[in-house]
Amino acid sequence: MTANSILLGDCIEVLKTVPANHVDFVLTDPPYLVGYKDREGRSIKNDIESDWLKPAFRQVFRVLKADSLCVSFYGWNKTDLFFDAWKSAGFRIVGHITFPKRYSSTTRLMRYSHEGAYLLAKGNPKPPVHPIADVIEWSYSGNRLHPTQKGTASLTPLIESFCPRGGLVLDPFAGSGSTLIAARSIGRRYLGIELDPQFHEVATKRMQGYTKRLGEYVDFEREAANASSMEAAA
Ligand SMILES: C[S@@+](CC[C@H](N)C(=O)[O-])C[C@H]1O[C@@H](n2cnc3c(N)ncnc32)[C@H](O)[C@@H]1O
Repeated sequence: MTANSILLGDCIEVLKTVPANHVDFVLTDPPYLVGYKDREGRSIKNDIESDWLKPAFRQVFRVLKADSLCVSFYGWNKTDLFFDAWKSAGFRIVGHITFPKRYSSTTRLMRYSHEGAYLLAKGNPKPPVHPIADVIEWSYSGNRLHPTQKGTASLTPLIESFCPRGGLVLDPFAGSGSTLIAARSIGRRYLGIELDPQFHEVATKRMQGYTKRLGEYVDFEREAANASSMEAAA
């Protein structure tokens, strides 16, 4: 299995071709099971049915090295389904990370202003020498490349803390490739899998652009940060 690649396909099938105990760290952002549609009508594959959830995390657990960690975002109103999938795969729930936003994604009964991810352990990982806080500032991406694009600045501290330098980071739900960009920017190898050909192409081009013209996607992040402060001020 080649490192530093983004594979097109269903991660359940693609991961079956990856050897067991192969990956140093998994950082992933699966569909939240909410049928999300953004203002432009963009949606996400597998965001309604949950039949893929258990088999996917079974494969994630298998390919992760012993005594290693996975960080997974999740849909907060579907926590029961995510817990069931993670635990039945063999993961232990060992932490929860909160990402406070400077703006609200939605306002209904409350102003919804944070994202969350769980820290999942296979076996008994060694604690880092300098553990990071479980609250990490949210970096707004602007969602230019994907309707639920994560800001790379929120991802790098997790990779730095939980993946050794030169280690292999897997994102089986890669979207526009934010995890992979973050991994590469701090000297980790990466393996991404994406089901939707459109986003697979975006992620592939993004990685190529990043290689050839360092800064291109940093501009996206900067624009996004400006948009975020304007939104916060409004
Ligand atoms: C929440 S998005 C990830 C967004 C990503 N974090 C980013 O910054 O662009 C989840 C992605 O998983 C993909 N996906 C859904 N089911 C999949 C599967 N079985 N295998 C691989 N990718 C899948 C969707 O097409 C979607 O792009």
